[in-house]
Amino acid sequence: MPNPESTCLVVQTSQDLRGTTSVPGDKSISHRAVMLAALAEGTSTVRDWLAAGDTEATLRSVRALGVRVERPAPDELHVHGRGILQAAAKPLDFANAGTGIRLMTGIMVGQPFASVLDGSPQLRRRPMKRIITPLARMGADISGGEGRAPLRIRPAALRGIRYEMPVASAQVKSAVLLAGLFAKGVTTVVEPGPTRDHSECMLLAAGVDVRAEEGVVTLKPPTGLRPLDFHVPGDFSSAAFLLVAAATAAGSEVRLTGINLNPTRTGLLDALRMMGADIQVSEAGTEAGEPAGTLTVKQRPLRGVEIGGDMVVRMIDEFPALMVAALCAEGRTTVRDASELRLKETDRLSVMTKELRRLGTSIEERDDGFVIEGPQTLQGANLDGHDDHRIAMSLTLAGLLARGQTRLHDAECIADSFPGFAETLRSLGARVATALDV
Ligand code: S3P
Repeated sequence: MPNPESTCLVVQTSQDLRGTTSVPGDKSISHRAVMLAALAEGTSTVRDWLAAGDTEATLRSVRALGVRVERPAPDELHVHGRGILQAAAKPLDFANAGTGIRLMTGIMVGQPFASVLDGSPQLRRRPMKRIITPLARMGADISGGEGRAPLRIRPAALRGIRYEMPVASAQVKSAVLLAGLFAKGVTTVVEPGPTRDHSECMLLAAGVDVRAEEGVVTLKPPTGLRPLDFHVPGDFSSAAFLLVAAATAAGSEVRLTGINLNPTRTGLLDALRMMGADIQVSEAGTEAGEPAGTLTVKQRPLRGVEIGGDMVVRMIDEFPALMVAALCAEGRTTVRDASELRLKETDRLSVMTKELRRLGTSIEERDDGFVIEGPQTLQGANLDGHDDHRIAMSLTLAGLLARGQTRLHDAECIADSFPGFAETLRSLGARVATALDV
């Protein structure tokens, strides 16, 4: 039964997407910006900050910890850090934001007061043991019911550790490094494969002695953090949906400006190019110490691709969108080593397979990935976003390719990372309307 409060996207077959657009600020960087600015001594200015469901939850949490934040515009923050946080009166609520709760846990274990970190029912289902284990080894006093939120933290003295991560996760790496800010001695994290390095870049910008070499990141506890002053570049993971839309809808040519092109994030760019997509990068420069630039994508016939190994982490959030591209591609697309997808906001392998099958497609779901033989014909249907922003946006793309009309229920979760997604698609000529779910 659709929720009467929720919105629904009505999507019609669309071709010839054209135009130039930007996307909202990077979610990973926006979370980290608020956290580091809260810890810094002095005023940090963050422009083009992502004002979206996930990051607003992080902003509310630092305000609840006594940090004053002025907001002259929704996407501009002036964070008045004092180098210390105060106990919050209530549990901190991270809504659906896995990055928010995991990284803030790293910070909270180092504070001289107790705290509780919690979130939505969906967030309460996600695994937290992956951060509890290393943080407890550092001396943190942290308990979570069977390795899930709510996480209850009591003050404890931390010591630096050397942690070899069993899974390649930037959230785990970041939680340990952030705890390392408050630990005695050096903290070292060894990555099994390269993960996004925004925490390292931003900690460095805040004056922290953090070094990364060949998958080994070392942090020395600082005496303080410097305030930050920067623009958040556009989120590659949001641009990904527009890239796939333009790479698959016949006759399309779209320019995306100001996109973060940090190579730890751009696996989808490589995957789409391997599939035969025509994507050009121009006006490349740096934004917040990260590479950024303009992407121009033209629709071309696509062919199947094989993806596995280190490439998976570089495009971990992009597989739902890649599945849609694979349905258009000639031949077989095989993805392996991607079982982490089962631990995101939803089990993305199973949810995408189930919803795409409603459009009449045939997909082989595997434990650690999927196989799609293309091209396939999609027939419009009623779909569900499952309160997972990336599922909802990927299904919208499928709707653009399907014959007839697709109704996507439970679509308001898109605002967790990409407010204005439907409007942006419309500005490019896509036939997407927002309606109340009745
Ligand atoms: C993120 C890391 C990734 C990614 C998530 C954002 C981050 O999660 O999927 O959307 O900002 O550090 P994992 O660390 O679980 O791979």
